[in-house]
Amino acid sequence: MEKIPALGLGTWKAAPGEVTEAVKVAIDAGFRHFDCAYLYHNESEVGAGIQRKIREGVVTRQDLFVVSKLWCTRHEKSLVKAACTKSLKALKLDYLDLYLMHWPMGFKPGEEDLPLDRNGMVLPSDTDFLDTWEAMEDLVVTGLVRAIGVSNFNHQQLERLLNKPNLRFKPVTNQVECHPYLTQKNLINFCQSRDVTVTAYRPLGGSSEGVALLDDPVIQRIAQKYNRSPAQIVIRFQIQRNVIVIPKSVTPTRIRENIQERVLFFFYSEGLGSHGSQLGVGPPHKQALCGFDAAEGPGGAVATARGTPECDRHGPSPGAGEQQVPNSRGAGQRLAGLCPRAGCLLPKSQDRCLWLPGPGFVGPFQNRRPPSSQSLC
Ligand SMILES: NC(=O)c1ccc[n+]([C@@H]2O[C@H](COP(=O)([O-])OP(=O)(O)OC[C@H]3O[C@@H](n4cnc5c(N)ncnc54)[C@H](OP(=O)(O)O)[C@@H]3O)[C@@H](O)[C@H]2O)c1
Repeated sequence: MEKIPALGLGTWKAAPGEVTEAVKVAIDAGFRHFDCAYLYHNESEVGAGIQRKIREGVVTRQDLFVVSKLWCTRHEKSLVKAACTKSLKALKLDYLDLYLMHWPMGFKPGEEDLPLDRNGMVLPSDTDFLDTWEAMEDLVVTGLVRAIGVSNFNHQQLERLLNKPNLRFKPVTNQVECHPYLTQKNLINFCQSRDVTVTAYRPLGGSSEGVALLDDPVIQRIAQKYNRSPAQIVIRFQIQRNVIVIPKSVTPTRIRENIQERVLFFFYSEGLGSHGSQLGVGPPHKQALCGFDAAEGPGGAVATARGTPECDRHGPSPGAGEQQVPNSRGAGQRLAGLCPRAGCLLPKSQDRCLWLPGPGFVGPFQNRRPPSSQSLC
């Protein structure tokens, strides 16, 4: 797989008893990207949902993009392969599309996810993430994973990794917390300038210990104005800035709401920068809502989105192309058409592709990058 679907289903805090059904609903709704991790202790149930939909013939394995993460207690080089194999077994897959280093620091190996000392401080291991990365690179070589990436890396850590001598595989993404209260503008600029995509976690404010983002009066007002839900607004916010986004939900109506065409093919067609200064009542780690600035938004995206009747993956589709769909203000909005293949939500637009390029897909995949893979739009 040479691209990362820009919208995925998060699975943290998705209870084992609920997540199998959530994954099935998500696949039916069009989700193809699933963000998993050993730490979430639900990979087996996620895998059950995936297998069920493959058996039903709704999707094939190749249609899906499954991500897992190496937990911090497995940073020793000798432990990396077994950790990956454990996730694969739980997910009932023979390869992962992407394996991320969950955090840049290692913890003392063992069965406890958070090994603590007497004072409640996490016990670190003396591993270096550059060594851990080498073991992750081996997973690509042996075919257990198609690509590797990182999570929770700041720009210095990422730079150190990118400058590693004899780097065999670049990280394809850096998954970080990101939403309108924590826009990560500088980190995103840095990552994108180095051909590393960014994946936004906690895009709706978080599953636990999060922020009440969706209740923010400014987001509510914008949602009302565009006739979208607050969740759709903050999901679209990321897609518009070429950031992959992985909202979590186990609620069928919300899962569908989060991937509706209303999210995928909707553009903020005017600057929202003026709202930025009003946003952010209260949350302690609130930062400026600079991402809602017109400069970062699509600008002329509506005007320039020229749909071509061709899906990146499924080829030309007769009769399909751009549609004029009324937006909330009644004006026609130019949207890319959808691929008619069952379950495929890819736009038939080479200049507005929802599948982000995976610039780090090197080695065996480097010749499979489509010509349009250099940019999202
Ligand atoms: N790499 C990392 O360190 C890291 C850290 C945190 C998260 N993540 C990943 O990122 C994913 C997303 O982050 P997150 O789960 O923390 O938080 P999130 O996606 O920002 O928020 C999830 C919460 O929003 C609710 N929700 C979902 N859709 C909604 C909608 N349309 N309207 C209203 N509420 C809605 C969910 O409720 P219901 O489920 O009850 O519907 C859940 O309580 C995680 O699941 C995980 O895969 C990665």
